[in-house]
Amino acid sequence: MICLVLSGSTIEENLKLVETNYRYIDIVELRVDKLNAEQQKRAKEFPALIDLPAILTIRRQSDGGSFSSSEKNRHALLEEALDGDFAYVDLEDDLKKVSIEQKAKEKNIKIIRSRHDFKGVPDDIFHLILKIASKGEIPKIATMPQGVDDLITLFRVKEELAQVENKIVVGMGEYGQPTRILYKKIGSLLTYCSSDNLSLGQVSAKRMKELYRADKIDDNTRIYGIIGNPVIHSFSPLIHNPGFQFIKFNAVYLPLTVDSVRSFFILAQLLQISGFSVTVPHKQAVLPYLGKITREVKQIGSCNTVVRTKTFWSGTNTDYYGFIAPLEQMLEEKRIKSALVVGAGGAARAVVWALRNHRCKVVIINRNLERAKNLAAETMATADSIKNASLYEDVDLIVQTTSVGMMSEEDPIADFNFNENHVVYELIYRPKYTTMMKRAKAANASLLFGIDMLIKQGFLQFEAFSGYHYPKRLKIEFDLEED
Ligand code: ATR
Repeated sequence: MICLVLSGSTIEENLKLVETNYRYIDIVELRVDKLNAEQQKRAKEFPALIDLPAILTIRRQSDGGSFSSSEKNRHALLEEALDGDFAYVDLEDDLKKVSIEQKAKEKNIKIIRSRHDFKGVPDDIFHLILKIASKGEIPKIATMPQGVDDLITLFRVKEELAQVENKIVVGMGEYGQPTRILYKKIGSLLTYCSSDNLSLGQVSAKRMKELYRADKIDDNTRIYGIIGNPVIHSFSPLIHNPGFQFIKFNAVYLPLTVDSVRSFFILAQLLQISGFSVTVPHKQAVLPYLGKITREVKQIGSCNTVVRTKTFWSGTNTDYYGFIAPLEQMLEEKRIKSALVVGAGGAARAVVWALRNHRCKVVIINRNLERAKNLAAETMATADSIKNASLYEDVDLIVQTTSVGMMSEEDPIADFNFNENHVVYELIYRPKYTTMMKRAKAANASLLFGIDMLIKQGFLQFEAFSGYHYPKRLKIEFDLEED
């Protein structure tokens, strides 16, 4: 079940939230602690006002809620609210009040017995679940995983505690996000969503239902994802999930925040992950785990796409192909014979190798000349200082690979004069027009954009994952100015 957490300050506000999210959800949780004092008394009316099951919760501050009055008042409020036809009531595992439990039982309101841990995953988590379940209550454990190792513990719940039919397990924070999206793979009865104002790791009800289709995930659903750190705001799920859905491929693609690549490969085995994208900072760290790599991965020393074969993991680099795709024809027709590559970091490595493999002459300019020289030596290119950019205005192609201009109006090659014969390729995709690109456009140069490379490399990953071309008719919608 997809559960919408209602944290409005009035009953009316919450009814609006139910209405706008109705299509995405199966159940709601009324957070009475979030209602203002006057409205809290109306909690018992709430279930009758909606046609979805509701969970009654009054969370105190020590458990991440807003209820600040005494425990006595909280108990009284709980007891009163139980007059309403709630389907469940959430009681913390240290709350022992016979009259509340009795009333819930009489009214056939199921008890969710919850434990919150904002520091990590409790050592006794399995024991705790079993203990609560043995009393006929539904255990709910909300934890804050601190890394992939904790995530492994959580995902083991499904198999280890298969005998506990109804349980709720939630991982909070960015490491915990996969437990929310893959709540069925963790064996959780439900997953909690919000409408907006999402805290780190939370997923909106709309995305949970429409993008991830979390409630449709079953034993046959293939799992894909993107590993990185940070990775929560990656665009890749917005490319792959709609693609999978369009071709009716039973698969889900989600962000996976990874601290340790070694631990991730254990998780990948546990969850039988079918393939994954790799982003900063893990593009090199995955290499020792790959049983097969392509020539480009070996040359560049970095891999951004990994797929599972029967016996090993196989790595490719679609950044390489995504970058070169819009240039291939021009390179073939010798419209482009020489290039100036700005930067000598990780992105530049893929660019320089791709150009050199297509017999293009390359000059690498960089702030740190030593780094440029090292890459040039490997690739049989030429190196120079970024200060000398304007010496190379006779090249056909200029590729900008540094981060300069991403967050600022800076132009890494401000002295360089563009002209209409230049092809200018900016790898930064946010903003679409950097200061450098604005100058190139004003000089009537031909422009190539980082966003097109990003999408193209995503399409190629989609092929690697699903075996199908990305559906041409599908329009990818993401707002580059967002996040
Ligand atoms: P990426 O994988 O995105 O290429 P990277 O490996 O950290 O990231 O490389 C960053 C590139 O941006 C390098 O070429 C770096 O130049 P240095 O090697 O001289 O550090 C370049 N870069 C970053 N900040 C820069 C700045 N303020 N001015 C000029 N170049 C800069």
